[in-house]
Amino acid sequence: MIPTLEDLRARGAAQQPTWPDQGEVDVAVARLRTLPPLVFAGECDTLRDQLAAVARGEAFLLQGGDCAETFAGVTADNVRNKLQVLLSMAVVLTYAAAVPVVKVGRIAGQYAKPRSADLETRDGVTLPAYRGDAVNGFAFTPESRRPDPRRLVEVYHASAATLNLTRAFVTGGYADLRQVHAWNTDFVRTSPAGKRYELVAGEIDRALAFMAACGIDPDEFASVGFYSSHEALLLEYEHALTRIDSRTQTPYDVSGHLLWIGDRTRQLDGAHVELLSRVRNPIGVKLGPTSTADDAIALAARLDPAHEPGRLTFITRMGAARVRDVLPELVEKVTAAGVSVAWVCDPMHGNTFESADGYKTREFDDVIEEVRGFFEVHRALGTWPGGVHVELTGDDVTECLGGGSNLADLASRYETHCDPRLNRAQSLELAFLVAQMLRAA
Ligand code: PEP
Ligand code: CO
Repeated sequence: MIPTLEDLRARGAAQQPTWPDQGEVDVAVARLRTLPPLVFAGECDTLRDQLAAVARGEAFLLQGGDCAETFAGVTADNVRNKLQVLLSMAVVLTYAAAVPVVKVGRIAGQYAKPRSADLETRDGVTLPAYRGDAVNGFAFTPESRRPDPRRLVEVYHASAATLNLTRAFVTGGYADLRQVHAWNTDFVRTSPAGKRYELVAGEIDRALAFMAACGIDPDEFASVGFYSSHEALLLEYEHALTRIDSRTQTPYDVSGHLLWIGDRTRQLDGAHVELLSRVRNPIGVKLGPTSTADDAIALAARLDPAHEPGRLTFITRMGAARVRDVLPELVEKVTAAGVSVAWVCDPMHGNTFESADGYKTREFDDVIEEVRGFFEVHRALGTWPGGVHVELTGDDVTECLGGGSNLADLASRYETHCDPRLNRAQSLELAFLVAQMLRAA
């Protein structure tokens, strides 16, 4: 039922590192196969049910986190700040949408990156491109850039530590709804951008006060559902963590709850589609502006032949300038073909450019404009704009331009190893703006 690693490799998988020593790879894979699951199959089933509600228009997905997690980023502060911002955003969205918000982090496994070139040249020196901490080091030296499969085992341990802390935060009372809303109120009170959202924050305050006065104190306030996701990119890692679930005797990739296939690895006959077609997790597929409706329909037939509710999420990333042109035909034809998916907007990856001073960046306004276009297209077609997928961090980094505080100086805290992320204030601002769009919808 699970294809062998050799089968997968024979398909000529895109975006794999050139490992210098096959023996080292075999050792890492053998070690990974002995390690326990990071997530449980039953949790993947629960998330699939929740994504089915998204597909039906009865819930909204918030998926976010780093473009590339790093091993150095596995610290209490970093994980906590990221969770804080995601949960804060979720409260605002829940209030506005008046439907459940399904919360999924790009977290605890997002360590491997597709790259546009295999090699990178600086000042006449050529080395392997950085492919994420799962593969090699960020520093531009021959030692650091050498792909090292021992890193795959380190991904497992970094993910386990992150998940452990995440589970403690979301179930241990720290993420209590009232506490999370207090963080939002703080943002609204203390940041210039926040002032504009006083009205919504005040409404949430009153709703909470009303419930407290009525003596309503549900368990749901004290603990929240939170799931992990990453791009299933490295065949060795994902294959080693694909296991037969003892309850159902069916395969799950237990490296994360939701796995997605990137825009560069979604070839219909490719290894990534083949592996993920065999596992029972909920699956996402990124669809960029070159995706045709026929591609999407064929992917759905491969990945979700049984039309299982919640199985498939299409994450569209068209760019602010093109979303209104290319998304309508895609959504219309896919829907007409009887394919039911959750439609989610990634307003990041179609809006990347290089600044005059050489930083890979994004304009906050472009990000918002793509979400706006996504909502407009779905509203016009009568389909449900099911969620947003964003690259963000809980820290005050300077990677994306603009937003309420008019960020213009990228140099002061540009920390990403890959794509530029929204900082905390920009993320919360996005949540308030998407909340307005949800209300209008
Ligand atoms: C990503 O999500 O970081 C990514 C590489 O996206 P895409 O596959 O859509 O380019
Ligand atoms: Co990215």
